[in-house]
Amino acid sequence: MAGPVTQILCADEAGLAEAGRMLRAGQLVAFPTETVYGLGADAGNDRAVASIFDAKGRPRFNPLIVHLPDIEAVQALVEWSGVAQAVAEAFWPGPLTLVLPMRPEARISKLATAGLDTLAVRVPAAPVARDVLRAAGRPIAAPSANPSGKMSPTSAEHVVRGLGNRVAAVIDGGRCTVGVESTILGLAGRPTLLRPGGITEDALAEVLGRRPAARKGEAISAPGQLRSHYAPGARVRLNAAEWHAGEARLGFGDVESDLNLSPNGDLTEAAANLFEYLHRLDVENPDVIAISPIPHLGLGVAINDRLSRAAADR
Ligand code: TXA
Ligand code: MG
Repeated sequence: MAGPVTQILCADEAGLAEAGRMLRAGQLVAFPTETVYGLGADAGNDRAVASIFDAKGRPRFNPLIVHLPDIEAVQALVEWSGVAQAVAEAFWPGPLTLVLPMRPEARISKLATAGLDTLAVRVPAAPVARDVLRAAGRPIAAPSANPSGKMSPTSAEHVVRGLGNRVAAVIDGGRCTVGVESTILGLAGRPTLLRPGGITEDALAEVLGRRPAARKGEAISAPGQLRSHYAPGARVRLNAAEWHAGEARLGFGDVESDLNLSPNGDLTEAAANLFEYLHRLDVENPDVIAISPIPHLGLGVAINDRLSRAAADR
């Protein structure tokens, strides 16, 4: 599986053209989105999609999000609806993924959907991501570009550290601005929040006219939401009101700490720093990373979701 050394590509015309060529040839290319770096492959190419699962060590029952440059490209793949149109108009391009019934004629690898008859689709906002999608000219399946169960990558360096030469190329587009994965909204039945993320539940409720239903523990709407996930090497201690000797200290708000997600208590800033700071503390190999309480509102819901999985028993 290990190929030659990963190429680092600049997000310039030549780099993007090369990325497009590699994706069309069935290779894996990691690229930045506004949420996290994605590990991209041609969603219509079974072998390319299979290599995503191999590179990440990802269980094959866990389906992938397909990334597209605009709403029209999405509509060619899924059964569209009025609700889909309303949320897409409000939040695309951006950190929202919609799960919709797949059109029978959509040429998407069954591996990408794990055999489901629904498809997760997203139009990302990051200019580099959009450029990559246009350069590739086809739907791109992309999970976060980290080994399965480990911390998500928000820089090209994180991708190289986690996946090494299991990816043909990484486009270096600097740090991701949102820093937590997209919110996943199920629209195959009544609107259901499948994963909290970069678009808050309040923002969704405003467009939907009511709060989306909470996810139930059904087998397949919940995949990827394994209890232990996003895990650093260190153990994680949450809601640390005080620090214990020897711990790496990740603060929030007005506390003394080794790194502070947001000294002013700004949740948007905290989300953007979350994985970068966890990666930074983790390279020091502490036994424990202790983390200040994060308010459970707005983007804090997505942050706490990731942190509770990072802290779960493995
Ligand atoms: O922000 C993001 O969404 C990033 C960037 C790269 O776009 N991608 C990402 O992908 O987080 P991943 O593979 O780490 O998470 C995808 C999630 C998984 O929890 C998976 O189970 C769910 O999407 N998913 C995919 N297809 C689904 C479907 N048809 N029904 C329900 N859940 C689905
Ligand atoms: Mg992931």
